[in-house]
Amino acid sequence: MANLRPPLPRALRPKPKGPSEDNGHAPTGAREAVAEKGISAVDWVDERTSLSGGARWLMFRKIPRGTNWFYTLGSATLFAFLAQAVTGVILAMYYDPSATRAYESVRYITNEVFLGEFVRGMHKWGSTVMVILVFLHMGRTFFYGAYKYPRELNWVIGVVLLLLTLFMSFTGYLLPFDQRSFWATTVGVAINGTGPLVGPYLNDFLRAGPEFGTTTLARFYALHMLVLPGAIAAMIGAHLYLVARLGTTAPPWIKTDIDPELRKEDA
Ligand code: HEM
Repeated sequence: MANLRPPLPRALRPKPKGPSEDNGHAPTGAREAVAEKGISAVDWVDERTSLSGGARWLMFRKIPRGTNWFYTLGSATLFAFLAQAVTGVILAMYYDPSATRAYESVRYITNEVFLGEFVRGMHKWGSTVMVILVFLHMGRTFFYGAYKYPRELNWVIGVVLLLLTLFMSFTGYLLPFDQRSFWATTVGVAINGTGPLVGPYLNDFLRAGPEFGTTTLARFYALHMLVLPGAIAAMIGAHLYLVARLGTTAPPWIKTDIDPELRKEDA
């Protein structure tokens, strides 16, 4: 006999199973069960956000023939920045940015805090590593001609990143507030003051008061742990977006394959 019942309204029809739901396949062992749970958690997020499309766009891409180890210098710089951010956050938990207590707080980190000397050492040497890497990466992009059309904007963003990185080193150097950092930075700020037009304003801005002291330290600390890392993170975001959008440049010695038909026409 024919089914005379009216069809169910769309809202009441059973929904097809989503990728994160049980699909009838029973996991065979504990390891598979854990893996399945992980996969369904990721699927659950992806069903609601479609993030996997963006992640695939960012990570799975063709790279030019001839790509070599020098192409890892940008990622190495990124890693150095992230290491600086992590160790910097730990140091900020103990550091005291006041002219009378800064030196003592740094001494406390070095001598008393568990692994304090290690974390401080990583941050201090890591800053040098980052500066060296950023210059090497810039050299690679320069010698491979990666600054040319259509990557000029990425080069300009890179120059801003270079300046911000150097400014990070300059502002960080004052923070231990010992004799060396105090006098070196006094000289550095004075040198800034000799610049044409903006020099005196820059000098006033950095000193942050009539004299080099507590206000200067507070200003350097705010720049070093808030303003500059924020600006660097934003600039790296734009830099990497352009790298993903435009792809990387092939080494200049790699010749493109010419269609043999075109070669014939040339002759
Ligand atoms: C915090 C600093 C920086 C980070 C984290 C960074 C990161 C990266 C990464 C991951 C890449 C892709 C891989 C590679 O080619 O190495 C890249 C590419 C590039 N970077 Fe940087 N970079 C920084 C600074 C600079 C500087 C200072 C310049 C130049 C002034 C620069 C110019 C470029 C250019 C032109 C490309 C495209 C390379 C190509 O098309 O082959 N970057 N960057």
